[in-house]
Amino acid sequence: MERRLTSKDIMKMKSGGERISALTAYDYSMAHAVDRAGVDMILVGDSLGMVVYGEANTLRVTMDQMISHGRAVCRGAKRAYVVVDMPFMSFQVSMEEGIRNAGRLMSATGASAVKIEGSHIELTKRLSQCGIPVVGHLGYTPQSVMAFGREIVRGRALDERERIMESAFQLEEAGAVAVVLESVPESLGKQISNETRIPVIGIGSGRFCDGEIQVLYDVLGLYPDFVPKHTRIFSHLGTSVSRTVKKYVRAVKDKTFPGEENVLRP
Ligand code: KIV
Repeated sequence: MERRLTSKDIMKMKSGGERISALTAYDYSMAHAVDRAGVDMILVGDSLGMVVYGEANTLRVTMDQMISHGRAVCRGAKRAYVVVDMPFMSFQVSMEEGIRNAGRLMSATGASAVKIEGSHIELTKRLSQCGIPVVGHLGYTPQSVMAFGREIVRGRALDERERIMESAFQLEEAGAVAVVLESVPESLGKQISNETRIPVIGIGSGRFCDGEIQVLYDVLGLYPDFVPKHTRIFSHLGTSVSRTVKKYVRAVKDKTFPGEENVLRP
């Protein structure tokens, strides 16, 4: 039987020079398809607030939503390392609340790790001590959209670049198993990947990170609102779904569906 990849496996991929492929997924069927295709890491991202629920940002996503989607993805993924996002305000109020919510996400979903946006070093340390693997998230952090606005590139200025570098080292020291690095200059993505031991999973951070993550709906061409510059549309599934549904509508209207073969025999 196939087994789920562990934190050790993911970390070994970096030391062995193997790039880590990661994608988001939000439900059972997609997780199954993504897992079967061989992706190493699946993130149940709070981006589901936007791509699944049609919100303008990720701030309305709740613990209950993350649990429900996380559980569905874990059922569909047999091999991939599954990471579930800690939603906005589930860990910022106090250390206690952060630990309790991370534990709840892990036990209720069956995930391999939680992901925390920003530089939460002490929380990462405490969770690692509790046996909860943590994936950090540095650079552009979408939960801070109200504080920083939509200017998404981080680490252009020297002081910010140094802060991001420092946070990556501190997360590593605190026991994080990996870090997602979003929207920083390529040179910074390369430098952090070269100078840390934990895998750096880039998104919009150039070509030289230890792995790459993208939002599944972006690479499938399913999200209608915008296409980020850092993505590549590998398939225009949105158009394909519309074309297919048009055929279905036509078949229902002209009474060619259901057909003879669809009739249930008594
Ligand atoms: O929520 C999400 O999908 C993410 C990715 C953009 C890394 O955090």
